[in-house]
Amino acid sequence: MNRSQRQKQRKVLLMGKSGAGKSSMRSIVFSNYLPKDVRRLGATIDVEHSNIRFMGNLMVNLWDCGGQDGFMESYLTQQREHVFASVAVLIFVFDVESREFQADILNYSNIVRALAESSPNAKVFCLLHKMDLVLAKRRNHVFAEKADYIRKASDEFESTVEFHATSIWDQSLYRAWTQIIYQMIPNASTIESYLERLAHIISARELILYERTTCLMVTRVTGSAEGVNPFYDRYERISSMLKTNKQSLACVQSLKFVRSPRH
Ligand code: GTP
Ligand code: MG
Repeated sequence: MNRSQRQKQRKVLLMGKSGAGKSSMRSIVFSNYLPKDVRRLGATIDVEHSNIRFMGNLMVNLWDCGGQDGFMESYLTQQREHVFASVAVLIFVFDVESREFQADILNYSNIVRALAESSPNAKVFCLLHKMDLVLAKRRNHVFAEKADYIRKASDEFESTVEFHATSIWDQSLYRAWTQIIYQMIPNASTIESYLERLAHIISARELILYERTTCLMVTRVTGSAEGVNPFYDRYERISSMLKTNKQSLACVQSLKFVRSPRH
């Protein structure tokens, strides 16, 4: 069997209203943008496609769908079959501070209904995004209340939809995307069993595998001694640190490149 046959293609739709933050998170996770730089992004026109290779044999086919009303309408009418066929994952991004929550819910329920028709086995993730704009003490309450409401509008996906609170300004973005990517990795259990053997051979208390491009955690094995580690969010914190390091290395590289012509 050749490499291309073994490769798994996964179509992922990234949807939600205009300005919800879809392209921002895509640029940070997959294109090394810094959070402060996403303000430069313009509104997405129609759909922007990107193919991201993950762990050698997973190809994520990401459709970043512009959320302006005209585009949304077109996805649900002229482009319906094209957009919603063969979808593995739908990520629907809600701006948690949106003043038009009812309209956002209506959009969402139209989208999940179209998805249920063409890709009933797809997995749906809802991201309650821009959580940094909500007062820290109110976050849990706002999250629970909105997630409950959205679940009820999830049609066929009511019992399987997963919710995450996210912000580009902290590691919550990495936590959510780690979970999303994990369930697409075709050979996760094989990787885990190798990792377990390696951890045993080198007597590691914990072994964490990160993906090179995105710095997202692929999987981990944790010994019983680490079960009480109080830094429960250490995996996504490390993702965030690796990413920052990668970005600064990229800066150094481009500076070198600019300087190199001077002999
Ligand atoms: P369309 O392409 O029109 O569908 O919009 P979009 O969903 O791609 O929105 P985009 O990513 O372009 O983000 C719009 C604005 O939201 C940007 O100016 C970001 O600075 C801001 N933004 C994105 N994520 C966050 C976040 O987590 N917190 C805050 N406070 N602002 C955010
Ligand atoms: Mg966009």
